[in-house]
Amino acid sequence: MSNPNPNLETKEINLVDAEFTAAPQEAYQTLVRHCPVGTILGTGSPVVSRYEDVRWALRHPEVFSSEMDVHVGLGTERPMIPQQIDPPRQTLYRKILDQRFSRRRVMEIEPRVRAHANQLIDSFIEKGECEFDAAFAIPLPCQAFLELMGLPVEELDLFLELKNGIIRPPVKYADLEGAQEYRRKTGRRIYDYFEALIDQRRADPRDDIMTHLVTTELDGRRLERAEILDICFLFLLGGLDTVTASLGCNIAYLAVHPEQRRRLVEKPELLDGAVEELLRWETPVMMVPRLVKQDVTIGGEKLGAGTMVSLLIGAADVDDGEFEDADSVDFERERNRHLAFGGGPHRCLGSHLARMELRVAMEEWHRRIPDYAVKPGETPRYSPGIREVQYLPLVWSLGKEAES
Ligand code: HEM
Repeated sequence: MSNPNPNLETKEINLVDAEFTAAPQEAYQTLVRHCPVGTILGTGSPVVSRYEDVRWALRHPEVFSSEMDVHVGLGTERPMIPQQIDPPRQTLYRKILDQRFSRRRVMEIEPRVRAHANQLIDSFIEKGECEFDAAFAIPLPCQAFLELMGLPVEELDLFLELKNGIIRPPVKYADLEGAQEYRRKTGRRIYDYFEALIDQRRADPRDDIMTHLVTTELDGRRLERAEILDICFLFLLGGLDTVTASLGCNIAYLAVHPEQRRRLVEKPELLDGAVEELLRWETPVMMVPRLVKQDVTIGGEKLGAGTMVSLLIGAADVDDGEFEDADSVDFERERNRHLAFGGGPHRCLGSHLARMELRVAMEEWHRRIPDYAVKPGETPRYSPGIREVQYLPLVWSLGKEAES
């Protein structure tokens, strides 16, 4: 067989294969066209890939529930709020959280994000090279998120250690028990950290999201300590990983597609379209898990109540049943209803923040460093699950084209 991933005979897909993670789009399209409900190699768990099926599942939490035991595997002691609970309870939490992540709130910090982007670029531009993830993609969005939350920016390394300890525990790949134990211990450290911060903010309120969480009211009552902790746990994972991942994927794409990069540099008005199109094409959060609550037929397959499934939003986003010329990256695409931020009631809370950060980061980067390439002889390295380009060595020469 020319393309062993996915394996069309067994309908299995290897989602952690390194080659796949670096460029998953062709394998996604094979899955969408030939087996809209496949299985994940190793776990045998079903994976739904067609756009219309994934979108339907996201919008029907009464059938595809977010309430499941997977939270235990993430080192938490209770489900994370609001991602691991279903409406109508989830809707109540979204009401109090959405206000703090509105477009208006996010625009207030845009000038500071822009200034920080330039400070970071100042620190390495003369060297003519950097490892993009460490030098730019990690610090820029993380600082913005910590500021909004009211968390000390000087403790960024600690927050990254805690976040990575849950998402990518530093144990051997097959050591599942070791990973579980590491996550459990890290989870406890996260709870302890935020326990102390809740007390501080109750005693000394400020204008930040931590203070909002300890003072806001839901149905006429203050949030309980456990509820605040379950929100903070999720924020730490959502706020510190995804924009970094998305920014790395975008710049890695543009580094190896100089003609697209030049268009963007020459026509900065294409930037908003480019951010959306690269979110679609790269879809950094490849999939989201759900628990089937009622027997259902989807993508021509019957799934029984109690089945754990993955909704492969990365595949849905390159489905040519929804997107015209799905495999061409078009910054001027007219209709782009991508699912990179999910859909339905759990649609990403941080999407305005993420879009602003991506736009500002890409605008400032290309204004200052318009021509860059992957360092000759080096290969970018992607992580599975959330596609972060953990190693992206770039080179440039100012005023001249950086050759790849
Ligand atoms: C490019 C960046 C981002 C991407 C691609 C992304 C992607 C997603 C996706 C796919 C979901 C849906 C999960 C599901 O249905 O189970 C989601 C939910 C969520 N995201 Fe994001 N996200 C990004 C940035 C952020 C940021 C910056 C925050 C900051 C707080 C954030 C916070 C959340 C939260 C709290 C939820 C859960 C919402 C709910 O369940 O009601 N995200 N995100």
